[in-house]
Amino acid sequence: MPENESTTVQAGLENLLHETRAFPPSPEFAAQANAQASLYETAAADRVEFWASQARDLLTWRTPFTETLDWSGAPVARWFADGTLNAAHNAVDRHVENGLGDRVALHFEGEGGDTRTVTYAELQAEVSRAANAIAALGVGKGDRVVIYLPMLVESVVAMLACARLGAPHSVVFGGFSADALRSRIADAEASLVITADGGFRRGAASALKPAVDEALKGEGTDSVGHVLVVRRTGQDVDWTEGRDVWWHEVVAAADPVHEPEWVDAEHPLFILYTSGTTGKPKGILHTTGGYLTQASFTHRSVFDLKPETDVYWCTADIGWITGHSYVVYGPLVNGATQVIYEGTPDSPHRGRWWEIVEKYKVSILYTAPTAIRTCMKWGEDIPAGYDLSSLRVLGSVGEPINPEAWMWYRRVIGGDKAPIVDTWWQTETGAMMISPLPGVTATKPGSAQVALPGIAADVVDDEAHPVPDGGGGYLVLSEPWPSMLRGIWGDLQRFKDTYWSRFPGIYFAGDGAKKDEDGDIWLLGRVDDVMNVSGHRLSTTEIESALVSHEVVAEAAVVGAADETTGQAVVAFVILRGEHAAKAETPEGAAEISEVLRAHVAKEIGPIAKPRRVLVVPELPKTRSGKIMRRLLRDVAENRTVGDATTLADSSVMDLISAGLSSGT
Ligand code: PRX
Repeated sequence: MPENESTTVQAGLENLLHETRAFPPSPEFAAQANAQASLYETAAADRVEFWASQARDLLTWRTPFTETLDWSGAPVARWFADGTLNAAHNAVDRHVENGLGDRVALHFEGEGGDTRTVTYAELQAEVSRAANAIAALGVGKGDRVVIYLPMLVESVVAMLACARLGAPHSVVFGGFSADALRSRIADAEASLVITADGGFRRGAASALKPAVDEALKGEGTDSVGHVLVVRRTGQDVDWTEGRDVWWHEVVAAADPVHEPEWVDAEHPLFILYTSGTTGKPKGILHTTGGYLTQASFTHRSVFDLKPETDVYWCTADIGWITGHSYVVYGPLVNGATQVIYEGTPDSPHRGRWWEIVEKYKVSILYTAPTAIRTCMKWGEDIPAGYDLSSLRVLGSVGEPINPEAWMWYRRVIGGDKAPIVDTWWQTETGAMMISPLPGVTATKPGSAQVALPGIAADVVDDEAHPVPDGGGGYLVLSEPWPSMLRGIWGDLQRFKDTYWSRFPGIYFAGDGAKKDEDGDIWLLGRVDDVMNVSGHRLSTTEIESALVSHEVVAEAAVVGAADETTGQAVVAFVILRGEHAAKAETPEGAAEISEVLRAHVAKEIGPIAKPRRVLVVPELPKTRSGKIMRRLLRDVAENRTVGDATTLADSSVMDLISAGLSSGT
């Protein structure tokens, strides 16, 4: 394992080696659980047939499939390829057809306290209207639609309306900048952008439409014919006649009946951009039948969903894969009743989430470790002020959850009884891959534990050999799974190189992992140049390119430094261009430059990528082959003694950096 990677893995191993607690399911929970231990045996006996039966049981097919898996075009899989269906029909219409039209699909809670309840019948009418309105704007099967919206009912409706038309959506998180939006619109060659005037965040109206206007002035966006605008905040917006259209005008006027476009199982459902190890985000492509099968299967078994009685709440934004699979597709395909919330956990007060749990009697909660750690920091007296007794299953996703946060989540939020499911998966995997099954698995604080039924995951060494129990290495997925990505939009070669070249024939996830003495899997974080900040993936290279695009910067290196709350924090080291270097010689000058560069990254990529710190340095540590040794910079960023620097081309560089930083420049 290369040096940088082995240090990360080693540190994680040492922290977790001492964790031995386990929490077996209660007999009462086990007795009523959707998942039974026999699922593993059934799946192991015939993995492909296991998925075929899930696809038949969980989805409604227009034309039943007769083929299950075609792996002859590996690494691009085809699942259920001769079947036809429609995702929106599965998520909405069929529930209405089955007499469940009056069931609440969405309890929307706006940040300011405004609410809206939408039944499945109402959702069907709204999605159909939106599909008719979008079709009238010239969007048809196969056309791409970019969605840049806050968390609103309309966001869910927009995604489903696209799915209904067979028009792949590409949701861009509202926290991304105009430039990030532009590059995604251009890469997807989108014909429509759906946005809002703005959304409410931390008590204020935050604008979105101006970013779309700016993006559409940029290169490569000529494909966009219209911008469909939801009115949420009522703030002023610039209007381009002929291009811009109000949602409330065209959708309200549209026919509430729409015949879904029946598509092949392998028809693209969506593209979702995610950061990789290079500067250019990857458009991860997901198709319909396999994706819906695994999203709904995992949502039902991992959360033990009882659609008649549960109230489910996933706190993720639809801009991320978690929002796609576990706000939109998984829960709605399963006919769940769920809460969606527009705002932040501390608006207008730090008990907001728990107030929502109490109000709607939320029984299943799915969130990220960073949120749990933030709540821990705020203090347990805050959740203690609310009735959380409705909660019966708790989920975690996005990054490794440290045992301390896990125990707090269980005790303070789960009343020491609700099982915690720590779910490992990725944008690329489409749905959960490794997780305990509540009612079956004795859970361990900090471990995602076991591959789900039908999934083949392992931890291997440099030569792709599975490590023995107790050993550490790389997480791999050795058999195709239904919701796997079908490629990177427009770049098959990059798909092969990124995931399938390190260990030929098996999928390399990019994560370090260990197996404990029981063979359970513990995730240890990324082993590549991808950072994980608050459960969001950021590329070191992408932030470095943003920094060097500023005129004062000659060179930049970015590392993810350990952070108690956000998991990792972005710390940037920059060398200034000659003529600007003098400015950074005083602490005030350095602080000013640091501020300018932080703001520059926020503008280029988005506020989520803004470095916590930007340190001006005279040199960067490089090996003789010119590779930046980020391990050493991480030592500096985490205030540790700098490790072995003997492989540096110039071993005095680290002294220079440390001396410069301690003198305040
Ligand atoms: O490093 C792993 C981490 O998040 C990465 C995937 O990020 P993204 O595609 O943005 O999807 C996040 C939501 C599914 C993984 O490579 N990760 C995700 N879940 C876990 C995790 N690391 C440890 N434990 C998890 N439960």
